[in-house]
Amino acid sequence: MVTNHNITLSFEEFSDPEELSTEDRILLNEAIAAAANAYAPYSDFRVGAALRLESGKIFKGANVENAAFPSGICAERSAISASVSNYPDDKPNAIAIAAFNEEGLTDEPVTPCGNCRQVIAEEESRSSTRIKLILGGKKRIYVIESIGTLLPMQFSKNNLRTNLP
Ligand code: THU
Repeated sequence: MVTNHNITLSFEEFSDPEELSTEDRILLNEAIAAAANAYAPYSDFRVGAALRLESGKIFKGANVENAAFPSGICAERSAISASVSNYPDDKPNAIAIAAFNEEGLTDEPVTPCGNCRQVIAEEESRSSTRIKLILGGKKRIYVIESIGTLLPMQFSKNNLRTNLP
């Protein structure tokens, strides 16, 4: 027997940052500020991420590249590593991402790479919460309620063993 499944993706598109809530607009501005700290001499693509925790604290991250290319790290994982390292019990509730190419802020929102989607998914599961994604481009802003939208059918700890905490 064959069963067909369909997955529908839903997300919001805003045409202007003014339409975001104040806290989300602030977070996006923090991501834009973080991109200025990127170390991206190889790609010249500067990415900033800002993670907001339940307490209101914001952790910024930028991409940090390396001459040994795979040793570099993306902005999203920089931000998550920083927050988990400092406040592991303060649950994240949103992450904003913005990127700059040689022409400035990208026209279209940048969506997190596959590695970062996997790490954001683990962070949602680790902290039993949903992390809203705010992806800012010059032309539009996407707001996505959870990484599940960008990474359906996740590989998670449940796939490894059934009795993990
Ligand atoms: N990059 C990020 O930091 N986040 C993303 O979501 C996409 C890609 C970085 C990795 C690399 O330093 C540069 O952008 C070009 O891929």
